[in-house]
Amino acid sequence: MTSLVRFGVSLEKTLLEKWDSLLNTRGYNNRSEALRDLIRQELVKDEWSSGGEVVGAITLVYDHHKRELVNKLTNLQHDFGGLIFASQHIHIDHHNCMEIIAVKGTPKSIQALADKMRGTKGVKHGSLSMATTGKNLQ
Ligand code: NI
Repeated sequence: MTSLVRFGVSLEKTLLEKWDSLLNTRGYNNRSEALRDLIRQELVKDEWSSGGEVVGAITLVYDHHKRELVNKLTNLQHDFGGLIFASQHIHIDHHNCMEIIAVKGTPKSIQALADKMRGTKGVKHGSLSMATTGKNLQ
């Protein structure tokens, strides 16, 4: 645990009021915790742009009745097997499936897998949640 440091911040009153209002709707108890989260978000963005090891989750929604779609997505998961450490398949309804794929690797390789999956014909939704291994964050 590192020691806490206090510092002053100057900003426009109206900006601070908007910030406080936003924190209130988001359930923050104080400005410090909100600022810590903002800083961590920026550090995670930096991890993704610097090319080190990161983790993330690819979420897909698709109709499993679409011909060849399931095969294509499965083949991609085998091709990129080294990146995937878990996946979960949820049957949303008679037609639609959701797949959540947990990945760990370089940002470039994870982006490539996410782009290929999203770009597969018949995928209705594809998103990549960029997370962190947490090693470099307090
Ligand atoms: Ni399904």
